[in-house]
Amino acid sequence: MTVSDDTAFEIPQVYSRHIFACFTQRPPGHPRGSCGALGAQPLWDRLSKKIEAKGLTEVGFTAAGCLGFCSAGPLMVVYPEGVWYRPQTPEDIDEIFESHLVGGKLVERLVMVLTRG
Ligand code: FES
Repeated sequence: MTVSDDTAFEIPQVYSRHIFACFTQRPPGHPRGSCGALGAQPLWDRLSKKIEAKGLTEVGFTAAGCLGFCSAGPLMVVYPEGVWYRPQTPEDIDEIFESHLVGGKLVERLVMVLTRG
């Protein structure tokens, strides 16, 4: 089996969706900034608590390190869709939770389209 074989990745999945949320916290004034400095922590706390409270065991939530686009934070990615979100408020988190994680519907207004450059 090779990686070019389409069947190579047809393996049982632990989660139906897996979130990676940036927990990096750099000091105030750091030239790169950070998701933590942009208010990520309480947003991720809210999201992880909602997932747990709803009993969404099929949704994984992982505290990630820097995702590489620090000034655009707070950033989180949802797989398998590969959607990058930039929530700013508790209400944004609630909408991502209800629409994407529960309902399977993209929250277009919070999507970050990132490019390497
Ligand atoms: S600190 Fe969050 S993407 Fe770099």
